[in-house]
Amino acid sequence: MAQKIIPTQREIVMRDDAFIVTKTDTRGILTYANPIFIEFSGFTESELLGKQHNIVRHPDMPRTVFSMLWSTVKAGEEFFRYVKNLSNY
Ligand SMILES: Cc1cc2nc3c(=O)[nH]c(=O)nc-3n(C[C@H](O)[C@H](O)[C@H](O)COP(=O)(O)O)c2cc1C
Repeated sequence: MAQKIIPTQREIVMRDDAFIVTKTDTRGILTYANPIFIEFSGFTESELLGKQHNIVRHPDMPRTVFSMLWSTVKAGEEFFRYVKNLSNY
């Protein structure tokens, strides 16, 4: 069972060529996560899929970013941004 993560401010640095990719349903429930996302989240795939994507939301992330994300994907467009996520490491 996935527990709530406590932020530590300890950064895990990704490789320059690494991209996290996820898919959700229209309610933000995770339906896919690529191996890099799974690795850096510190969760297992089965702990992630079926959960709300905000399981990794870091409190430092401004809420406006996510409202932009949702309005962009609801308009049928792609959204690429840097994101600071929590990790369960
Ligand atoms: C495809 C997709 C990817 C997302 N990726 C992230 C992400 O990496 N980190 C994150 O905190 N929220 C991500 N979100 C947004 C979350 O669904 C959620 O809106 C956000 O974590 C804020 O939480 P809240 O809506 O409960 O306030 C993503 C949403 C979608 C549709």
